[in-house]
Amino acid sequence: MSTLLQDISTLSTLWQQALTTVNSHHELEEVRIAFLGKKGSIATLMERLGSATLDEKKQCGPLLNELKKNCEAAIKEKKLHLAASAPSMHHAFDVTAYTPEQREGSLHPYTHFITEIQNIFLSMGFELLDGPEVETDYHNFTALNIPADHPARDMYDTFWLNTPGRLLRTHTSTVQMRAMKEKKLPLAGICTGRVFRHEAVDASHDHTFFQCEGIMIDKHITLAHLFGVIKEFLQTLFGSDSLAIRTRPGFFPFVEPGVEIDMQCPFCTTGCSTCKKTRWIEVFPGGMIHPNVLKEAGIDPSQYSGFAFGFGLTRLAMLRYGIKDIRLLSNGKVSFLQNFR
Ligand code: DAH
Repeated sequence: MSTLLQDISTLSTLWQQALTTVNSHHELEEVRIAFLGKKGSIATLMERLGSATLDEKKQCGPLLNELKKNCEAAIKEKKLHLAASAPSMHHAFDVTAYTPEQREGSLHPYTHFITEIQNIFLSMGFELLDGPEVETDYHNFTALNIPADHPARDMYDTFWLNTPGRLLRTHTSTVQMRAMKEKKLPLAGICTGRVFRHEAVDASHDHTFFQCEGIMIDKHITLAHLFGVIKEFLQTLFGSDSLAIRTRPGFFPFVEPGVEIDMQCPFCTTGCSTCKKTRWIEVFPGGMIHPNVLKEAGIDPSQYSGFAFGFGLTRLAMLRYGIKDIRLLSNGKVSFLQNFR
């Protein structure tokens, strides 16, 4: 038997064996290239046939052609078989295999707290006021009796914008002039909102926090009205009819006289870490709106008077909820937020 003949017969069992191990289109393609490719085993034998004797050609030629035809047909069939038995997407994808953790959403503590504060003031007849966070120098300072070069400007580490005279409001007192000019008297309103200070961030300071500003203007408004409103507010907020307040003088250019209102510690009776064992917590600055501010708004200070206050809503929220680190209120940590369902 000629070696060409032998090789043809060996090859015809080889490709069949190779095909039985094929399980994927990729493997099938490898087999196809090995046997039927341009440099594959069959092509090599064809080449040898070219230089074979006439007798060999007569004998081996048809055999080799048949081998090639059989191999091609078998590969084609295998290909159809693989396609038919491929798992369909519907069966392969098990929708029950991955169950995402069930998480219930909730309102942010700020939203809870702001709503609560607004409801208390609304129940006392106040309306809700609003103003922009990007403000003018005028509304943040000048209109509040803090002209350029006034030392009180140093109390506020201000984020100035590139546009001259524009800044991120450092307090919600900015709504005072806006409300006084827009609304009719008598006027009672509060504004809760974000304020910004150029501060180094730590557990008790943030560059962005919330304040609540309040004003009330009418004929014969006095400091007694301010104290009464604040006391009522704090007693409702902390759910205690006996919560006391005390007052001290304070200075702010936009009020005269200015006051600082402290509240009795709602968390203890003998002194605790929150009140630093003093039984008092400093909460509210305020006072009687300065005549210059009223005049600036076109209100006659000989006819009308009013009080204003502006408290750190963030600080009060931290006290109320026992939050020790201010950064928790803005970093969106789920483990923290989940406490406020
Ligand atoms: N705007 C002041 C601040 O951020 C707080 C303040 C003090 C507001 C006295 C007032 C007020 O309305 O009368 O420091």
